[in-house]
Amino acid sequence: MADNLRLRCDAYAAAPMNTPSHSAAALLQPFALGDLTLPNRMVITPLTRGRAGRERIPNPLMAEYYVQRSSAGLIVAEATTISEQANGWLESPGIYTDAMEAGWKGVTSAVHAAGGRIFLQLWHIGRASHSDFHGGSLPVSYSAVKIDGDGIHTPLGKKPYETPRALEAWEIAGVVADYRRAAARARAAGFDGVEIHAANGYLLDQFLQAKTNLRTDDYGGSIEKRTRLLKEVVEAVSAEWPAQRVGVRISPKWIARPMGRPQGAPRLMSGS
Ligand SMILES: Cc1cc2nc3c(=O)[nH]c(=O)nc-3n(C[C@H](O)[C@H](O)[C@H](O)COP(=O)(O)O)c2cc1C
Repeated sequence: MADNLRLRCDAYAAAPMNTPSHSAAALLQPFALGDLTLPNRMVITPLTRGRAGRERIPNPLMAEYYVQRSSAGLIVAEATTISEQANGWLESPGIYTDAMEAGWKGVTSAVHAAGGRIFLQLWHIGRASHSDFHGGSLPVSYSAVKIDGDGIHTPLGKKPYETPRALEAWEIAGVVADYRRAAARARAAGFDGVEIHAANGYLLDQFLQAKTNLRTDDYGGSIEKRTRLLKEVVEAVSAEWPAQRVGVRISPKWIARPMGRPQGAPRLMSGS
């Protein structure tokens, strides 16, 4: 084992400093993402920064941050809320008012001027919120099941998680419509595409995961029913964007904010 390691180290030491390994060379090759040509295969993953201020309006500091990363093949910008109801993170940006759309336009123009490409991640935080974000009204989710976690930073300080209010079936169409409006605004703001955030224990993931989706209506139970909301959101967003500019982020193995599936429940995807 030690000899093996030494051999590999020697090989690296013998390689000229400016000779990229095969994998590094591959990373620098162009990539066809649908109809979009990425100049390389490095994608900046969405990272919540909390720099949009209390009004959640993208600003020059955010533009500078994304311009600094514009040599990546693609930037997927931070999770961005689709409505007031979707909020639950201090000073994260939104895409549901004219001022937010205009703020994002400043970001996309700056990234494009620097030669970059940028998608926006569309976010509804669901139960990972707090009534302090909603003038005292409870956050919404798939079922009235509280996050068993350390607590949440709200505009009024750190608080324990609350039991959310389960969305009524008739309210779900309104959430889907919010995704569609946000997707339209993202297009008007000059993004190159959008990514639907269905990962990491947020609203759409809360519907997908069997351990936490306890609904007995058309949005809970079988895999078909648990994926119904995501399917409706994809269809709504795809009405505003060509399908090749719409991505979906999922995390079937995510277990924080406790998610997952009970023993024996059907897997969402093989391996999950
Ligand atoms: C500070 C921070 C903010 C993040 N924000 C988001 C986000 O807005 N949207 C998202 O889908 N993932 C978010 N993530 C997850 C990252 O995109 C990424 O999946 C994670 O850091 C694991 O990547 P790694 O294995 O390269 O570290 C965040 C992670 C960190 C550390």
